[in-house]
Amino acid sequence: MNTFDAIKQRHSTRAFSSKQISEQDLEDILVAGGQAAIGCADFDSLKLYAVQSPELLAEIDAASANGNPTSHPLYNAPTLVVVAAKKGFLENIELSNAGCIIQNMMVLAADRGIDSVYLWMAMMGINGNAEVQKKLGFPEGYTCVGSCALGYADKAFPKLKGEGQRLDVKVIR
Ligand SMILES: Cc1cc2nc3c(=O)[nH]c(=O)nc-3n(C[C@H](O)[C@H](O)[C@H](O)COP(=O)(O)O)c2cc1C
Repeated sequence: MNTFDAIKQRHSTRAFSSKQISEQDLEDILVAGGQAAIGCADFDSLKLYAVQSPELLAEIDAASANGNPTSHPLYNAPTLVVVAAKKGFLENIELSNAGCIIQNMMVLAADRGIDSVYLWMAMMGINGNAEVQKKLGFPEGYTCVGSCALGYADKAFPKLKGEGQRLDVKVIR
């Protein structure tokens, strides 16, 4: 798949099957994350955690559900990549770094036929739960700044994304 097609193919999936992604795909997707543009080249300020433990995924899911037992903000995904960061040199730069990292990962995932969704909710759940942060192994001073779920869509999940431009664009010449 060429890059433009992979970018267009990426879309949010909100119902995953239990099928796990391969170890090679996970390794490559994490490299794609690490190849992202990072503000001030401050690579030491960022860490990636790939969670495949069903127990920890269930804990993160529950922590992210705002107390609603019927809500599953991780959508049963078998893999969650968590981006953790300490404060960068510039205000909020870690959130932009997370966006670049996660987009890179999701585009490579799309190229491999792997489904994904960016999850702000999981970030809030992780940051609100010290026990989960401990299990993830965050060093002192690190918080979650973004996450994305990876896996294969449940067959019943429709692709909602349309083709073409979705934003208001002006070209000024
Ligand atoms: C920063 C960010 C946070 C997001 N957080 C969530 C989330 O917590 N839960 C969710 O279901 N989708 C989340 N999304 C996915 C968006 O809702 C989705 O990208 C948008 O609806 C456009 O659809 P598409 O991804 O299929 O193009 C997030 C996307 C971004 C970029």
